[in-house]
Amino acid sequence: MSKFYITTAIDYVNAPPHIGHAMEKIMADVIARYQRAAGKKAFFLMGVDENSLKNVRAAEKEGITARELVDRNAQLFSGLKPALNLSFDDFIRTTEKRHLVGAQKLWFACQNDIYKKSYKGLYCVDCEQFRKERELVDGLCPDHKTKPELIKEENYFFRLSKYQERLKEIIENDEIRIIPEARKNETLSFINQGLEDICISRSSERACGWGIDVPNDSSQKIWVWFDALSNYINALGYGENSGKFQDWWQENENKIHVVGKDILRFHAIYWPAMLLSAGLALPKEIFAHGFITVDGQKMSKSLGNIINPYELAEKYGADAVRYFLTAEFPAIEDGDFSYEKFENRYNADLANDIGNLFERVFALVKNRKIEISVDSEIRNLQEKTEKIYSEKMDNYELYEALNAVFAFSKKLNQYINQKEPWKLLKDKDDEGSHILNTLIFGVEKIISWLKPFMPEKMEEAENYLKNLSQQKEKLNLFPRIAR
Ligand code: MSP
Repeated sequence: MSKFYITTAIDYVNAPPHIGHAMEKIMADVIARYQRAAGKKAFFLMGVDENSLKNVRAAEKEGITARELVDRNAQLFSGLKPALNLSFDDFIRTTEKRHLVGAQKLWFACQNDIYKKSYKGLYCVDCEQFRKERELVDGLCPDHKTKPELIKEENYFFRLSKYQERLKEIIENDEIRIIPEARKNETLSFINQGLEDICISRSSERACGWGIDVPNDSSQKIWVWFDALSNYINALGYGENSGKFQDWWQENENKIHVVGKDILRFHAIYWPAMLLSAGLALPKEIFAHGFITVDGQKMSKSLGNIINPYELAEKYGADAVRYFLTAEFPAIEDGDFSYEKFENRYNADLANDIGNLFERVFALVKNRKIEISVDSEIRNLQEKTEKIYSEKMDNYELYEALNAVFAFSKKLNQYINQKEPWKLLKDKDDEGSHILNTLIFGVEKIISWLKPFMPEKMEEAENYLKNLSQQKEKLNLFPRIAR
């Protein structure tokens, strides 16, 4: 059975998760579920990034220790599993022993490319990276609008410059395929500007004693990104060179990292360079998704517009949240959330379109004997839709795959209107039962296509369908939201 390894970014735990985090995890989950249904053995990894300085600062503000903060908040991220119907197979915390051992092992493995030098630079704690003077806008970090700190230290550096040509080749030739194409070009142009060596440690003092020690030099902590990126192999047992690491990383062709566009550079440049240096296999694909805003604005504490995925799922159900975040806009683009958009889409697509179709079909087909003859027009359309759906899903175009499914469901609703099967529903009426078979066939296909997106609701529909003749109540899968 072929393998499929899928990971998401490990989130900082300085604050609870918001729907931006949730969207990424849901997309990855839909892909993992689709790949499993397509017969692959999928392994889906999630986790949290705990060694960062911003976690320390957040803890200070709350008057608790960094350890207390990460322990408390990590649960809010792992708890997304039941809240959002996520199916991750493992959840890694970067304060775990298996991660520490792996991060230090990777440091050793890269040793030929690591050297020490004195350095002066502007560090943005929110980005957890040095920023160039020319990147700043009015002296502030362009992403966080905060003033970076001037740091003067003797630190360890990684010889990123050495990998410039090799990285260019890898990206150009799609040895690591970057999706979408526009982000591939962006990565190439960054490489073409010339890669400089990167600082990969900080003094233990600056790190407030928090983080993973540089091997053999406890006066320094490993830079959080250098440690965090290694989570993808540490979770598989790189630290102890386990069979699982060999099987799922070294010898597996299907490995994809799902990340936001803001952190593509770390995944498409720094991470592959580290792997090349250590002589390890590269990931196969990196999928960079867009950002979600709320009512047209970036989510922020000060604006008070952070949408909590737990509250959303509590109010509308996990599957409705999963559906909205994959159906409202293409994953590679930015999109906007508002309660109005959410409820409109829910009512239009789920209550009216799919919900209504299912109700109509289940009401008609009650007590009918199901045979296998299917209308050729619908069968042809189903085959066409299946093809488009698989192509889109294989290419992580979830929104586009959903569009194909909804075009099919609209057609099925029209088919009922045209054929008016209720007029033909006399017992032993061949034409009538042919139409009903066709409808059941169509609904079953829709269920299988939508299952990775809305596992719970589709399972409910599947179970209802299994015992159609005994159902006494309507299914009412997606009750309308009153507005
Ligand atoms: N800890 C790093 C990632 C290390 S991976 C080795 C980090 N954490 S984060 O919490 O800031 O972001 C985690 C993921 O959430 C990233 O992929 C990021 O792009 C994504 N998102 C954060 N805010 C987002 C939106 N508003 N919309 C969509 N995704 C966003 O970066």
